[in-house]
Amino acid sequence: MGIDKNKKITMKTIYLLLIVSLGLLNMSYAAKKNEKYVLATGDKARERLELQNNLLAKDAYEHLEKAKLSKGMIVWDIGCGVGAVTSYLADKVGETGHVYALDISQEQLKTAEKRIKSEGHKNVTFIKGDINELENTSKNPADLIYMRFVLMHLVHPENALEKIKPLLKQGGVIVSQESIMSTIAQGKPVIDDYVGVVMALGKHNNVNYDIGNRLEELYKKAGFDRVKVYYNQQKIPPTDLKKMLLMGLSEWKNKAIEINLLTTDKVAAWEKEIEAIPTNDPNLMFSLAKQAHVLAWK
Ligand SMILES: C[S@@+](CC[C@H](N)C(=O)[O-])C[C@H]1O[C@@H](n2cnc3c(N)ncnc32)[C@H](O)[C@@H]1O
Repeated sequence: MGIDKNKKITMKTIYLLLIVSLGLLNMSYAAKKNEKYVLATGDKARERLELQNNLLAKDAYEHLEKAKLSKGMIVWDIGCGVGAVTSYLADKVGETGHVYALDISQEQLKTAEKRIKSEGHKNVTFIKGDINELENTSKNPADLIYMRFVLMHLVHPENALEKIKPLLKQGGVIVSQESIMSTIAQGKPVIDDYVGVVMALGKHNNVNYDIGNRLEELYKKAGFDRVKVYYNQQKIPPTDLKKMLLMGLSEWKNKAIEINLLTTDKVAAWEKEIEAIPTNDPNLMFSLAKQAHVLAWK
């Protein structure tokens, strides 16, 4: 009897240990899945993503208009981040429509949800999920899917498009935007150097920060019925460029230092040089990266 009881306790302990280790394994797998994403998430990402959106919003809205975003639509915002565009989408589809905002990062979703709630939108559902593992959620098929600066962080963008396509209704449209990062060449050594390290970091992680170059080809390969591509390159004032560069650097520098693409001395030197870019000349403007926009109909 005594032996049986001990055996039972041991089995129970082993079972519990197994459950705990499986839980830990699952957590570390979830963290690993997003390891190619080198930028900050949640509140730490909010200021940069909001500034980026302020600079690019007009451009994004124009393409959403071309795609006929309108009241009553079901829209998916894939890789929604801190909800910078989610809010606009919720406004446009109105009470009769709905936005499903998906991101792999709980932190991003938490920040996005806070924003959407504070604005009083009641037509947004947040979903934590990995694009690479999307199931066919035909319960809520989309009239329009919005996706900005997401494929650039994925090792297998082709696979992502294969997973995303079934979310779209027949006749529905994807509005997709990605950068061609290496086009930020400004003839200013510090910025060229900076962009060189960003590109090398992407290469190290097997992701392509110039994926805008491939956007049209990717959507055509994914078998969309009709694919339209637009390119543009916007000019911004030095104050905004400086903020973008410094905030971005603070988010990804440690990852670059870890793999010897950068040193702390170099970071300090860059910060000094970027700070020194003059802001009082109204004629001094800088180019953002060239952007590719794809509208693809199923
Ligand atoms: C640069 S942010 C862009 C956010 C937003 N689309 C915007 O333009 O402001 C990229 C977002 O994609 C998310 N992401 C990266 N890999 C993902 C994946 N496999 N599945 C879902 N979301 C992912 C990141 O967590 C991040 O929030």
